[in-house]
Amino acid sequence: MNKVFITCALPYANGPCHLGHLRSTYIPADIYARYNRMKGREVLFVCATDEHGTPIAVKAENEGKPPVEIAGRYYEMIKSDLDACHISFDNFSRTTDPLHYQIAQNFFLDLYQKGFIYEETIEQLYCSECDRFLPDRYVEGSCPQCQAEGARGDHCESCGRHLDPLELLNPTCLICDSKPQVRESKHYFFKLTHFQKQVQEWIESNPELPANVRNYALQWVKEGLKDWILTRDMEWGIPVPLEGAEGKIIYVWGEAFLGYISSAAQWARKEGKAWEPYWDDGAVHFIGKDIIYHHSIFWPSLLLGYGCKLPRTIVAGEYLSLEGLKMSTSKNWVIWASEFMKKFDYNLLRYYLVANAPLTRDTDFSWDDFQRRVNDELADILGNFLHRTFSFTHRFYGGKIPQPEKWNDTDRALEEQLKALPERVSGHLDNYHFREGLREIIGLAKAGNKYFNDHEPWKTVKSNPQEAATCLYLCNQAAKAMAILLFPYLPGKAQDIMDILNLDGYEFNWDDAAQFIPAEHELAPAKPLFPKIDDEVIEKEKEALYENLEEKEVMDLISIEDFARMDLRVGMITGAETVKGSENLLKLLVDLKYKHIQVVAGLAKKYQPAELINQKVIVLVNLKPAKLFGIKSEGMVLATQDSLNLLNPGNAEVGEGIK
Ligand code: 2FM
Ligand code: ZN
Repeated sequence: MNKVFITCALPYANGPCHLGHLRSTYIPADIYARYNRMKGREVLFVCATDEHGTPIAVKAENEGKPPVEIAGRYYEMIKSDLDACHISFDNFSRTTDPLHYQIAQNFFLDLYQKGFIYEETIEQLYCSECDRFLPDRYVEGSCPQCQAEGARGDHCESCGRHLDPLELLNPTCLICDSKPQVRESKHYFFKLTHFQKQVQEWIESNPELPANVRNYALQWVKEGLKDWILTRDMEWGIPVPLEGAEGKIIYVWGEAFLGYISSAAQWARKEGKAWEPYWDDGAVHFIGKDIIYHHSIFWPSLLLGYGCKLPRTIVAGEYLSLEGLKMSTSKNWVIWASEFMKKFDYNLLRYYLVANAPLTRDTDFSWDDFQRRVNDELADILGNFLHRTFSFTHRFYGGKIPQPEKWNDTDRALEEQLKALPERVSGHLDNYHFREGLREIIGLAKAGNKYFNDHEPWKTVKSNPQEAATCLYLCNQAAKAMAILLFPYLPGKAQDIMDILNLDGYEFNWDDAAQFIPAEHELAPAKPLFPKIDDEVIEKEKEALYENLEEKEVMDLISIEDFARMDLRVGMITGAETVKGSENLLKLLVDLKYKHIQVVAGLAKKYQPAELINQKVIVLVNLKPAKLFGIKSEGMVLATQDSLNLLNPGNAEVGEGIK
């Protein structure tokens, strides 16, 4: 394989980029693209804005503007956000481009002609208040699979499943809050069921699929696939290219994938090259974990239907929270990419978002942690190593890399670590383990600092000049290796290091990383590369962010009134027995002084009924009664969630309130 087709999930053109997008998708993809280019592979790295779909149409309606104008505005914003983070796309197009329409319609037609798309009249949710069929995302209800509330017509956030709006329990129209009716309409379905076996085989036999993608996908495939409705009754979108389908468009998820191809085709036209060989050598899709279903099930099935090679793999980045709370653009609990990069160097952001956690784990952005990593890792470890190396070379060797005179065990150890590094980092990057690769490089800086301290060149330059010369010779070589291997991660800083090393016009080539610069090579003047971030700067950011939280009472915060609504009291357990058929539950009788209540509590895994008698507990007494295993429960006994320790009111009186 010498060519690689790399894509990023197409961002919807209805909002700018925030740090979550950058973390899950764009930064990892860019690292991978840059790394592959440095390995001498031919890379085609493409993306586009996803400009159809209901949210954009609704936004346009609200603003009284054509949807394409709204999309165009966000296209410019998103492009500038991604440029600011130096995401090195070869092409970044739009799904409203005529070429995309043509490719998507041809693809649809091809599947129709092959019999993989069929017509059927179906019932759909229609809002008579709003006078329109309700798009999936504009219906809300409970998930039929996991029962979670707030599931949207097409997707349940809680269990991650793709849904059909008609399956939702208690649906309501999100635009006007009324209860929708069911009406008939003709639609086009993709025979997803036909590909069940092939997709399952592909998932099971593809060794490159990361575990998070494989596990989700297999679970869904094994649950059984259903045919997939591929059209909508809507104006904004790509018209279904068939007679008798007037007024119908291709569902946004039925054409967005083709954005990967149409962006590549646009690139090919501009460059006078073919994009197909890149696809055939292997496509790698970078996405966020919320769209694993689409990429691991819909997309391969569509490709199989069309008769096209399947992607090499799908890399799915998990979520980023903000200061411990779920990000929310509507509540302004978010950090926008453009705002961030107006104030901080984009290299720092790339570093932090990669170093923070493996891509396959949810993680958090916090201002304090950002400052800590920049100051402790970039400034104190990496920056310190580079700065002392360069400034010492200037001070004692006239800016020229000294000739090594002798080579002892510690020199050899550092040399070995350095020589082995490109392979080691490659091993991680070839497996999409971005964080581990970065840690290896920082590991060399750490080792370099120790080596520098142990050799004390500030002393040995006088007492043992041969030792000092070898030390500085090797430290400069390590700096060069770091610069090259850091290039995919921190392209700007890598270039700065190369500039100081005076390796002008250098083409970053991975396999050169451990090749030594000859002694006597002259450096350019040194300058500090990683200044520390002051506390005041971070405090200011935190204040501005938390203002959003306080002003709008958003997220999981509750008011004092909310808390006061809970009637918590000290109670005494006077009766306890097991519940037939349940391993968890105990039926308790609780004395509250002014009355007795019955509580069914999940305590049986930890307590025998007898040991609870005469225990004082804290009880929520104004909880709506419910039935558990057919037994009425009128309150809740408070205990810790996992260890089931009962909260102890000490010597408080039975019946006393808790405030
Ligand atoms: O979920 C999203 O943000 C979609 N716009 C991603 C589309 S990716 C692909 F299918 F093109
Ligand atoms: Zn409505």
